[in-house]
Amino acid sequence: MAVVEDGRRQLANLIHSQVALHEEFGGVVPEVAARAHLEKLPGLVTAALAEAGVTAGQLDRVGVTRGPGLVGCLLIGVGMARGLAAGWGKPVVGVNHLWGHVYAALLTEPSLEPPLLALVVSGAHSDLVWMAGHGRFEVLGRTRDDAAGEAFDKAARMLGLGYPGGPALDRLARTGDARRQRLPRPSLPGLEYSFSGLKTALRYRLRDLGESLPEQTRADLAAAFEASVVESLLEKLGLALAGRPAAEVVVCGGVAANTLLRRRAAEVVAAAGARLTIPPLVLCTDNGAMIAAAAHHAPQADLEVDPGLGW
Ligand code: KG4
Ligand code: ZN
Repeated sequence: MAVVEDGRRQLANLIHSQVALHEEFGGVVPEVAARAHLEKLPGLVTAALAEAGVTAGQLDRVGVTRGPGLVGCLLIGVGMARGLAAGWGKPVVGVNHLWGHVYAALLTEPSLEPPLLALVVSGAHSDLVWMAGHGRFEVLGRTRDDAAGEAFDKAARMLGLGYPGGPALDRLARTGDARRQRLPRPSLPGLEYSFSGLKTALRYRLRDLGESLPEQTRADLAAAFEASVVESLLEKLGLALAGRPAAEVVVCGGVAANTLLRRRAAEVVAAAGARLTIPPLVLCTDNGAMIAAAAHHAPQADLEVDPGLGW
């Protein structure tokens, strides 16, 4: 729940993390997630307004995610937004969650303006997107199977790491050496990604190595898996840049919190002569400020909940 000014400045950005709630299940339980939204949202509204130091009367509009996402959570969010907007006498606009990830970059770098090329990497998406203007997105490439975040989460589980897997794998990889446990680099023609084969390669490697792996080998495997995902993501980003030169590049979404991706993306984008914006970690993973920024720049009246909404 966030309050944003001019679509660029965060006045408040509060997150009630559900990590502890889902930890014992090893992943997000949709029904539990929806109930927690219902329980926590009203308190967060009050807290966000207080932290921002504004009253509801001073707001221009209420923005809310209408998709893609878990249907129960989306319904609760949209219902809550409709109620608040009706009570406050304000317009309410539905926002595409993926657009939000890109708008997080505009909250990060105040001088950033489209056109720009964005790599959006989250739990369910690995998309290369051309943003021609506000609310104007063209998908140049996407994954054929798993998203990068999903691949990280599955690999983490195979390596015996807890939930959430991506950050845990990131930490373990810091102590590993990718060269000691090379894994294949996915390679499809054009701007398509694929990570399911890499996952299978890790599974077979673990089977061949046998049980009770030394900690160093697990770290080496985490580093190798991470290197393959990151280099694949950046190879296609480079290819997209070659085909459509852009002055501005954005890397965003939960996976953009990854340490290696952040470091290597800076090198690859600098080599292409473009400027890179990667939001700070709290604006990479899901948050309210990115949705408020998107609602400011690209207001859509559409409030229809669509769990599978595309760009
Ligand atoms: O954008 P996000 O918060 O939620 C979705 O919209 O999906 O992305 C969540 C994904 C998860 O798969 C999580 O494991 C991954 O982002 N992630 C990371 C890191 N932090 C979060 N993956 C790799 N390294 C990280 N440091
Ligand atoms: Zn997200």
